[in-house]
Amino acid sequence: MKIEDVKKICVLGAGLMGNGIAHVCAQAGFQVSMRDIEDRFVDNGMAMINKNLSREVKKGKITQDQMNEILGRIHGTTDMKEALNGVDVIIEAIIENRDLKCKVYSEIDQICDPNVIFASNTSSISITDMASATKRPDKFIGMHFFNPVPIMRLVEIIKGYETSDETYRLIDQLSKKLGKETVLVNEAPGFAVNRLLLPFLLEAVFTIQEGVASVEDLDKAITLGLNHPMGPLTLLDFVGLDTTLFIADYMHSEFQDSKYRAPTLLRKMVRAKHFGRKSGIGFYDYSKTPPEPRLFR
Ligand SMILES: NC(=O)c1ccc[n+]([C@@H]2O[C@H](COP(=O)([O-])OP(=O)(O)OC[C@H]3O[C@@H](n4cnc5c(N)ncnc54)[C@H](O)[C@@H]3O)[C@@H](O)[C@H]2O)c1
Repeated sequence: MKIEDVKKICVLGAGLMGNGIAHVCAQAGFQVSMRDIEDRFVDNGMAMINKNLSREVKKGKITQDQMNEILGRIHGTTDMKEALNGVDVIIEAIIENRDLKCKVYSEIDQICDPNVIFASNTSSISITDMASATKRPDKFIGMHFFNPVPIMRLVEIIKGYETSDETYRLIDQLSKKLGKETVLVNEAPGFAVNRLLLPFLLEAVFTIQEGVASVEDLDKAITLGLNHPMGPLTLLDFVGLDTTLFIADYMHSEFQDSKYRAPTLLRKMVRAKHFGRKSGIGFYDYSKTPPEPRLFR
């Protein structure tokens, strides 16, 4: 398949990443179907795209007419067959769970035309492993976007054991059409960015767990001391503590290395459904304006 042949993209998952990916694909002129498992998740995803596009209109980056055209190219649905109808590329952004992803891949492999490319936005899971759930391992690749997708400029492209050069070239060109820069990474748990980021984020949680600093002071220390755009606890709340825990547990089991061990505090917060921004509470309380750092002892 050539990049000119790509007309329709299906995004699986309408969460934090899925709605961002659908947004940038539609903005680049592609027809997009965005599929989630329940209407309320599809509706939330569409509302988020609407909100983010409205912000672009207010800033004068796009016109109201352009916003309407972009929205007109996105079709949200819970029906898998409808979502997959006539697609050329699938970008999967469902939760970071290996077994669930493999189940979904094996299901869609039976429905889709053999030429359709499968790209996973996984943060850590083996591309080769997920590709093995299909009969198209050569057309299976990692396409790792960053959050928030419309703003962050990188796509990390990950080649699995059997990913073809043709698939890689197509996804590289597609990423560039979406306005992104790319890097090519060979498969390894967590790829390149999360291999470095995870130990840093986990250590931040250990620092809070051990009472070394408050949430506010640790974020301030890293922002001012290392010149990061935001502190690690703010970043954790953005990423989602549930997603971070999935990634940490996966990397820990793959590498068998304690630097990816999740702190008890992170596990407890996820069990309490304190996922960060998406659930309204994490290291900060988002019911307050401005969000208030929480106290841990
Ligand atoms: N959060 C980040 O900063 C970030 C960054 C890069 C990559 N990722 C990866 O992107 C993926 C999605 O993460 P997220 O942060 O958007 O999570 P999220 O929890 O915000 O969204 C996941 C969505 O997937 C949906 N879902 C679950 N099962 C599904 C299925 N069978 N079919 C379709 N949808 C289904 C859920 O209902 C939910 O709406 C994960 O693999 C994650 O590791 C996340």
